[in-house]
This record gives sequence, structure tokens and C-alpha cells, in this order.
Amino acid sequence: NFTPNAFVDEMVAELKEKLGNDKVVLGLSGGVDSTVAAVLLHKAIGQNLYCIFVNNGLLRKNEFQSVLDQYKGMGLNVKGVDAGDRFLGELAGISDPETKRKTIGRVFIEVFDDESHLLEDVKWLAQGTIYPDVIESVSVKGPSATIKSHHNVGGLPDYMKLKIVEPLRMLFKDEVRRVGATLGIDPELLGRHPFPGPGLSIRILGDITPEKVQILQDVDSVFIEGLKSWGLYDKVWQAGAILLPVNSVGVMGDERTYEKVVALRAVESTDGMTADWVHLPYDFLMKVSNDIINKVKGVNRVVYDISSKPPATIEWE
Ligand code: XMP
Repeated sequence: NFTPNAFVDEMVAELKEKLGNDKVVLGLSGGVDSTVAAVLLHKAIGQNLYCIFVNNGLLRKNEFQSVLDQYKGMGLNVKGVDAGDRFLGELAGISDPETKRKTIGRVFIEVFDDESHLLEDVKWLAQGTIYPDVIESVSVKGPSATIKSHHNVGGLPDYMKLKIVEPLRMLFKDEVRRVGATLGIDPELLGRHPFPGPGLSIRILGDITPEKVQILQDVDSVFIEGLKSWGLYDKVWQAGAILLPVNSVGVMGDERTYEKVVALRAVESTDGMTADWVHLPYDFLMKVSNDIINKVKGVNRVVYDISSKPPATIEWE
């Protein structure tokens, strides 16, 4: 029987013992896992924890600034690195999903490495790896390899020469959330939907441009804010929008339009391994569809994804 209080006490003691006065660097993502790992480490070693939060230009609308402010409010020693232009520059012209993931993984490591070299005498790299990540990265190395190369685990280059500390590696997601609650982390942050490391890049099918990122951020924001204001957000495990690489014909006034199509996706799941599409109310879908088409320039059609996993996946690529 898992008791978050006992876990926190034991882990804080273990981290103090293991890390002593060493400096530790940690990459924050804005998600639950890295945040809980950071707060736990901060409780153990205080200002010897150096957090880096990278904007890869593929986060949700306004997310970089709002999450950074939230971290600072929590007393974490965090540096925000806005590398959006660098990521989008390197991604220009790439359509293949695996190449997108690899490019983002590589650039992330370069940015993170540059930043951690600015810190002197760092001995440890902390990661918010949780138990399902450990399992999945083992299976990714098997013969059915590279279905999707998740870059959260084990992707750091040898030359960083840092020892790894992963305080959450034995925990499941719900246990991580309970630990976070015990640590006093904002319930809204703990209730955030999972969001993939490569961010919106894998929700823009085809090549990525800054204009497409902006369209998708706007669409996603209308959808997510809508879920929140209708009290549906917490009933959904993960939700987001996908920008399709097709245009469709529409009509506005007397004119024909030829603009983008977006798909909305909302799923129920426990671990992301299987998932069912959520039966969102028709009234909600109608409102959100109207809002998207009225507010987001360049989109004239909204569709809702009614596929379950398997055989579909949660993401479209
Ligand atoms: P799929 O699409 O495989 O997604 O059904 C299952 C869960 O994994 C997330 N996902 C990723 N997370 N890097 C990540 O960190 C990735 O490359 C990646 N691809 C998918 C997805 O958002 C869902 O929660």
C-alpha cells in the first residue's frame, strides 16, 4: 500500500544522503513528472538544484511564460531558455515523424548541454522518469524497436559525464500525483493532461512552419479552455488538436474559401497504452467547432476523431 508521506520522507532522506552538497541539474518540461521530481529534490537539497526549462517553440499557447512564472512562484531555482527559433529552424522542411522526433531530441540535448556547461561543478543530472517510462524504453530496444523513440529516457550523450538521479523511477503516474499533492503542488498543475515531449510538432502532419504552429496553438487553446469551462477537462485523460495537411473548400459570405482542416482528439485511458475516444457532448463540440472557425484565421473545418487505441494511436504520428 503506497503512502505518499512515507515516500516523501524516505526519498528526501535518501537524496540528502546520496547527493550531499553536490550540484544537480534537471530539465523541467512543465509536466507533472519533472515538476514533482524537482520539488522533491528541492526539498532535499534546496538551492543546489538547478532547473532548466527549454522552450522548443512547440509548447501550448503562452505555456512557456505561464509555467516559468509558476515555477518561480514555487521557489525553484529555474532558468527559462527560449530556443523556439532554433528548434523551428532545424525542423524546417522535415515531414517524417521519426525525423521530427530525432531532430527535437538532438536539439534539446544540444541546448541543455550548452546550458548545463554554464553551471560549474554540476555532478548529477536529475530526471522525472517514472516506472512506465522505464518499461517502455526497455521494450523500445527490442526487435519491435522504433515504433516511436521516446526521447525522455537514456538519450543523453556520454560527454555530459553526469551521474543520473531519478527519484520517481519506481512510481506509477497516480502515485506521482499523490506525492505531488503531499508536496503542496498546485492541483491544477498536477491535473494537467500528458503532453508529448516533441510537443505540437507531431500534431502538425507534414512539415512545420511558425505559421502552422501558431494556428495549432490557437485551435488547441480554444479546445482546452472550452473543456475547462464546460467542466470536462478532468474527465478526459488527454486532449489536443491536430492540424491536417489538407485544405478543404468552405464558404464565407459570397466567397469560397480553401483552408485548413483540424481534428480534435480527446481520450480516456489509464496509462496511454490503450485508449477510448471520449463521447464529448454534441453541444460542446458544436460550440468549440464554431469558436475555432470564427476565431482562428485559416481554418474552415473541424472534425472529431472517433478512433480507439488500438488499432489507432492517441497521436496521429
Ligand atoms: P500514442 O500516440 O503512441 O501515444 O498512442 C501514447 C502516449 O505517448 C505520448 N507520446 C509521446 N510522448 N514523446 C513523448 O514524450 C513522444 O515521442 C511521444 N509520442 C507519443 C502521447 O502523447 C500519449 O500520451
